[in-house]
Amino acid sequence: MDVGIDKIGFYVPKDYIDIVELAKARDVDPNKFTIGIGQDKQAVPQPYQDAVTLAASSADSILTTDDKKDIGLLIVGTESSVDESKSTAAFLMDLLDLPEDIRSYEIKQACFGATAGLQAAYDFVSLNPGKKALVIASDIARYGIKTPGEVTQGAGSVAMLISENPRVLKLDHKSVYMTRNVGDFWRPTFSKTAFARGKFSNEVYVDFFTTLWNKFQAKYEVTADDFSTMLFHIPYTKMGTKALRTLDGKLSDEKYAELTEHYQASVKFSREVGNLYTGSLYLGLLSYLVNAAEANEKMLFFSYGSGAVGEIYSGEIQPDFEKIIDKDAILAMLDNRQKMSISDYEKMYEVEYQDGTIVDPAGVDAKFYLSEIKENERLYKKNK
Ligand code: CAA
Repeated sequence: MDVGIDKIGFYVPKDYIDIVELAKARDVDPNKFTIGIGQDKQAVPQPYQDAVTLAASSADSILTTDDKKDIGLLIVGTESSVDESKSTAAFLMDLLDLPEDIRSYEIKQACFGATAGLQAAYDFVSLNPGKKALVIASDIARYGIKTPGEVTQGAGSVAMLISENPRVLKLDHKSVYMTRNVGDFWRPTFSKTAFARGKFSNEVYVDFFTTLWNKFQAKYEVTADDFSTMLFHIPYTKMGTKALRTLDGKLSDEKYAELTEHYQASVKFSREVGNLYTGSLYLGLLSYLVNAAEANEKMLFFSYGSGAVGEIYSGEIQPDFEKIIDKDAILAMLDNRQKMSISDYEKMYEVEYQDGTIVDPAGVDAKFYLSEIKENERLYKKNK
């Protein structure tokens, strides 16, 4: 039975900051941010948006009433969870009008969470013919104002519906994975912002890629010539470039040029949005599908989540993928955003809703929003 991604959707908040303006405000050469880091814009969420509302928004963009009836599993991968007990998935049941006979939970392993969800969904759909699984990656990446990581922030969500006979991407059930206890990135429960050993994190990432790629080639007796595209976890677009560059000189010039060209197509959206943490790899997939993909391409995916877990798996683009992806809606969502000044972004960064907050719906520019915090419980609403 073929199993994989049948639908994929995306949501990005309506505000962004311009990376050149951020560089100037931080007294940094803009080329460092646009070339050295490889970003152009950074999505900024409103205080009434969080991992729950972002997740609801991307899922809402792809689900029909019929899809909802078939879903038996709902997994949210996130490291921006709003509750230490209740999962982000449980909050979504009302917002998305999902039926009760669903197993739902949240997965946390830094940026690896959505890949863990995708593999669990593959198993679930394979064992339960006719059932579908909804996997959502939803995150707000925050390092803090004036930190080295500030330029690598972002926010948004990617939702994927996993089913039999998928129309977007068939998963091959070929994968290799690894885990090491590494201190490259962490966010203690008391902190809204992450701590990172940024340069060390780059080294671990590249080492994981090399180790896993060697394992994958040996296990399945394949080479890069068997694939036309490699997608990478892209917290910022330079990071994937570093992994790709390890192949320079090891492949034919033509193959390396092809992978590089396809990589550029896969990072177009990330340049515009920034870091989605666990959604980053899947935003790369969507960017590639919208900007360059061809039917029947064989692709490799390198997933990495600090701390650290990595996985390389393969898949194949399906013949009718273009009919499934709502390209115009995705491009319009990216184009119709509004630029926020750096000073407004700095002010909003400090806003933190407390118990007793009631959000005025007149000021909400999103379908799903946090409406109230009552007895320390977060309550959500949907605009019709
Ligand atoms: N023009 C062009 N390029 C320039 C430049 C200029 N004027 N000035 C500097 N650069 C280049 C540098 O040469 C460097 O390039 P290379 O990386 O190719 O060497 C690049 O710009 C960055 O310069 P620095 O290394 O000096 O920058 P920095 O000290 O500010 O650190 C960073 C950059 C480490 C990425 C930092 O932004 C950071 O710590 N970010 C947060 C950590 C992070 O994103 N880690 C990602 C993995 S963790 C993850 O993905 C999350 C997860 O699992 C949860």
